[in-house]
Amino acid sequence: MTTATTVPALEARGIRVAYDGHVVLDGLDLSVEAGRVTTFVGANGSGKSTLLKTLGRILRPTAGTVLLEGATIGSIGTKQVARRLAILPQSPSAPAGISVRELVMRGRNPHQTWARPWSAEDAAVVGRALAATGLTEVADRDVAALSGGQRQRVWIALVVAQEAGILLLDEPTTFLDLTHQLSVLRLVRRINRDSGSTVVMVLHDLSLAARYSDRLVVLHRGAIVADGAPEDVLTPDVLLGAFDLHARVVPDPVTGTPLVVPEE
Ligand SMILES: Nc1ncnc2c1ncn2[C@@H]1O[C@H](COP(=O)(O)OP(=O)(O)OP(=O)(O)O)[C@@H](O)[C@H]1O
Ligand SMILES: [Mg+2]
Repeated sequence: MTTATTVPALEARGIRVAYDGHVVLDGLDLSVEAGRVTTFVGANGSGKSTLLKTLGRILRPTAGTVLLEGATIGSIGTKQVARRLAILPQSPSAPAGISVRELVMRGRNPHQTWARPWSAEDAAVVGRALAATGLTEVADRDVAALSGGQRQRVWIALVVAQEAGILLLDEPTTFLDLTHQLSVLRLVRRINRDSGSTVVMVLHDLSLAARYSDRLVVLHRGAIVADGAPEDVLTPDVLLGAFDLHARVVPDPVTGTPLVVPEE
């Protein structure tokens, strides 16, 4: 008998995804283990966002299936999916005139029902999400009036407030200075460790991806060309093949994880 712990959090089986007939993913298989941090890396246009969106039911495959905790994702209700899975898209846009707190409060929507409207617990969750992302002081400001990096953190806070077991994050560190990139990745790791949440994200910084992920999946022209522990995946050959990058890989002096150092 299959037990709950062996069911993957997400699974793509033979998915084919196309935009207006232009096929991006063709027969792709991927299984995402629960409770782990899995990161997609690859060159621009390699299909990372397309794969993430398909796993998050934003895009529908024309062939194959996506399973959310063993159930065909297309057969699950939208609100039920949102309770299990939170998505940060690559370029989210906020409604005009919305404040930081109001936007983060939307993360609680999937938890509300007619019998259980907005509660003190929801307010506490939102307060903690704002604090964890360093936004408490700007909570009442208009989202449109923030800097790019502050705004990115509002989206992170919204995803955190959703308290979903699975987080799909497309380039969560875009626009952030190095300190805030680290603070977001540490927060993601903390949520993963403390709540056992499954994280699937897209990152461009390979060395940070190696530091904060259990598993790296390398995409090249819509196909998975390497997949495994960061130290097994980040090799000069893979970097050359997937990124056309001549680089050395040395142990990060702080963490021992692979550090990618481009050749001149
Ligand atoms: N909405 C769209 N309509 C048509 N083609 C698209 C669309 N979105 C992506 N594509 C195409 O699909 C391919 C994969 O794009 P995708 O956004 O998945 O790449 P990515 O790996 O996320 O790249 P990046 O690192 O630039 O975000 C590209 O060839 C891109 O041009
Ligand atoms: Mg992308």
